Amino acid sequence: METFIIKADDEEGLDRAAAALRDGKLVAFPTETVYGLGANALDTNAVKSIYEAKGRPSDNPLIVHISHTRILEKLVLEVPEKAKKLMDFFWPGPLTLIMKRTDFVPDIITAGLDTVAIRMPDNALALKLIDKAGVPVAAPSANLSGHPSPTTAKHVEDDLKGRVEYIIDGGPCNVGVESTVLDVTGEIPVILRPGGVTREMLEKIVGKVESDLVIKIEDGQKPRSPGMKYRHYSPRAEMYLVSGESDKVVIEINELTEKSKEKGLKVGVLSTEENMHRYIADIIISVGSVDTPEDIAANLFDSLRKFDENNVDIIYSETISEEGIGKAVMNRLMKASSGKIIKV
Ligand code: TXA
Ligand code: MG
Repeated sequence: METFIIKADDEEGLDRAAAALRDGKLVAFPTETVYGLGANALDTNAVKSIYEAKGRPSDNPLIVHISHTRILEKLVLEVPEKAKKLMDFFWPGPLTLIMKRTDFVPDIITAGLDTVAIRMPDNALALKLIDKAGVPVAAPSANLSGHPSPTTAKHVEDDLKGRVEYIIDGGPCNVGVESTVLDVTGEIPVILRPGGVTREMLEKIVGKVESDLVIKIEDGQKPRSPGMKYRHYSPRAEMYLVSGESDKVVIEINELTEKSKEKGLKVGVLSTEENMHRYIADIIISVGSVDTPEDIAANLFDSLRKFDENNVDIIYSETISEEGIGKAVMNRLMKASSGKIIKV
C-alpha cells in the first residue's frame, strides 16, 4: 500500500484523507499529545485494521476522538456532572474520559468492556479531519505496538509506512506524552493513566481524584485500564533508571557505563540538560532541563527513538520529580525500562 503524506496547509489533501477515513481506511493524524492512528469508529472492519497495522493485542480498548460534544449522547449512557465540568474546562485537550457506553459503540472498540474512552484533541488539524469525516474516530497512538509513541510525522512513517493510507503532517506534538485517562463512572474520579492533564489540575475543578497505577497489576489485580499491563514505549535497548541525589546518580551512571563498555556494549545515557556534559557514554541525549518538565515530556519519546537510531545496546537514564507532568514522564520511563530502577 502506498502511504500519502499530507501537509498541514493542503486542504484538498485533508478532504481526501477525511473521505478515506469515513470509507474505512486508516489515517494517521497529529494531536497535541502524540500522533494517532485513526479509523472510523463506527466501522468494525476499519477498527480491526488498526489492531493489524499496529500489531496490537485486541483486548486493549481504543479511545474515540470527537470534535463536538453533541455526538456524546449517541456514545454514552450519561455524562456525569463531574465529567461535564471537566469537559468544559479541559476539552479540547489531553484528557480522556471513561464513561458508560451505549450499544451504538462497536464492541471491538471497547474490547468487551461496558465503558468507552472519549476525548476531544486540542489540535486544529485533528478537529478538522474528524469534522470533515463526519464520524467519531477511534485512534491509538500511531506507533508499532511496544515502540515509543510518535510525536512527529517522521516517527509515524518510520513505524507505519505502507500500512496506512494517509499521514497528516502537523509538525511536532507540543505535549509529547499521551492524554490522562480518567474513569468518571464512580463517585470519585480515578486516574487510570497519568498524562497531559495533571491530578492537581483535575482536583482544582472537581475535588478529590484518585489514581490507580500500574504497580497493582503485578499483584494479580485486573487492571482497569487494560493497556497499562503491556510493556510500552520501549526503545530496543535494555533500559535502566538510576534515581537519587543528582551527583551520586552521575557517578553511578558513569561506573555502570564503564562496566558495560568493558563488555563491548554501546552505551546511551538519557540525561537532563544540566548534567549532559558530565557523562562518558557513547551517546548522550539531553531530554531537557529539570526546570522545565513540560519540555522533558515533549522531548521524551523522540529521545528514546534516537537511541534506537544510534543502535545503542544499553541505556541508563536519570529520573525526574513526579510533580505535575513529571508523574506522566516517570510513568512512561518506568514502562520503557520495565520498572528496572537502581536507587543510589
Ligand atoms: O493522547 C492519547 O490518548 C493518544 C492520542 C492519539 O489521542 N492515544 C492513545 O491511545 O494514547 P492508546 O490506545 O495508545 O491508549 C489508550 C489507553 C489504553 O491504556 C487503554 O487501555 C485505555 O486508554 N482505555 C481505552 N478504553 C478504555 C476503557 N473503556 N476503560 C479503561 N481504559 C481504557
Ligand atoms: Mg499507545
